[in-house]
Amino acid sequence: MKFIKDDFLWGGATAASQIEGAYNIDGKSLTLLEMKEFKPLKDRANNHFKITDKSDFLKAIENKEGLHYPKRFGIDFYSRYKEDIALFKEAGMNVYRMSIAWARIYPNGDDQKPNEKGLNFYKNVLNECKEKNIKVMVTMSHFDIPYSIVEKYGGWLNRKTIDLFLKYAETLFTEFCDMVDYWLPFNEINMATWSTETGLGVFESTFKTKNERDSASYQGLHNQFIAQAKVIELGKKLCPSAKFGCMVANITTYSLNCNPINEIENLTRQQKTRWFFYDVVARGKYPTYIKRYFEEENINIQMEKDDVEILEKNVVDFISFSYYMSATVAVEEGEKTAGNLIFGGKNPYLKASEWGWQIDPIGLRITLNELWDRYQKPLFIAENGIGVLETLNDQNTVEDNYRIEYLSEHFKQINEAIKDGVDVFGYTMWTPIDVVSASTNEMSKRYGMIFVDYDDYHNGTGNRFKKKSFDWFQNFMKNKEL
Ligand code: BG6
Repeated sequence: MKFIKDDFLWGGATAASQIEGAYNIDGKSLTLLEMKEFKPLKDRANNHFKITDKSDFLKAIENKEGLHYPKRFGIDFYSRYKEDIALFKEAGMNVYRMSIAWARIYPNGDDQKPNEKGLNFYKNVLNECKEKNIKVMVTMSHFDIPYSIVEKYGGWLNRKTIDLFLKYAETLFTEFCDMVDYWLPFNEINMATWSTETGLGVFESTFKTKNERDSASYQGLHNQFIAQAKVIELGKKLCPSAKFGCMVANITTYSLNCNPINEIENLTRQQKTRWFFYDVVARGKYPTYIKRYFEEENINIQMEKDDVEILEKNVVDFISFSYYMSATVAVEEGEKTAGNLIFGGKNPYLKASEWGWQIDPIGLRITLNELWDRYQKPLFIAENGIGVLETLNDQNTVEDNYRIEYLSEHFKQINEAIKDGVDVFGYTMWTPIDVVSASTNEMSKRYGMIFVDYDDYHNGTGNRFKKKSFDWFQNFMKNKEL
């Protein structure tokens, strides 16, 4: 099968906290993510993103010996970025989605001036991409709020954080406007309602009741919506030729069966876990179903008088989302599926990865069609991939046929969606190179088409090796055959 869209963007995505390392080099400060120690998982298929104990994080400040904080080390991209970008080019990537670490640019959150050394690092990375003719999509905040902002301002619960973020965004626009093609203010903005730590920089253990927690997470989310809208407004002035998008963790769910009570359960669940986020950023207003939910659950969000107008005037140019899996929904749910943001149950028709993420390429075609029908805005698949336990063989490679199958099956469904009439313009796999896992902190949950020789404790040479999928992707980029 031939992939039919010639100008489609193909590439890979990474996040600063999962690759850079150099956590305290050249003026960078700690982020909350770098305060999460590595704990080997007891049961891979049943682990969750949440950490509820604040002391777990605060131990990190004491820097006790014997504890390992993987996101402080990443895969040494800070010193090896040239080699990595050269490999991305060799694979045939024509777009790279990367993130910038706020804590490298404004280490104290409220510094008067940005950190020059941090800016230089990104200037070098972006130059490298430009020279290689690779388009760049930048995520400004990929779960990595500087700890200084958590401590001084209380993360995204405080509207002051909007101003700090805006100043950071202005610096990025001023410095990098001509080097970046697409901007995403936040990664997976719906994470705010799932993990307040990762999504908002607010410790879960702060809240005593469910209502307190829910109100706070929707408040923090609202502040992020406003921050995103203001960043778009500013970006359009400072970088008029760039495009601005959102990024939502998309979990497509199906009703477990055709019982209408399960169908309606699925519909209302989708409204809360998917549509609400897209509706606000793409249509520019809070939908009635969520207002009803807030009213019934006694969730009160403080809004300022201009907020409604700010949201309305600054909707996104395109919609990007991550898509790894799907799940099922029923009023009486059976066994739950695993995943970073799990909203449902197992599907008897799907296979799952070792971490329990259900593999569903057709779900991607369904998702693309749904999003296009609903919003009529260009779509971009910002993350998609499979994490697997892997080791190098005698030939210093990995025969990752399962990844080739995963990628090609998803590519075929993108092709089908395009034939359906969907306007989707690009895809960045998670990820071109093995990175530290966002949820589990493991290095051994490998997603890349490039193997990185580090184990969970950062032992190893750090050397890079091409897996079989690297050659497969390179070949696909030449002939676009699936
Ligand atoms: C997404 C995140 O939720 O999933 C990435 O944006 C993350 O940062 C990816 O790495 C895969 O999740 P994990 O937990 O397997 O690394």
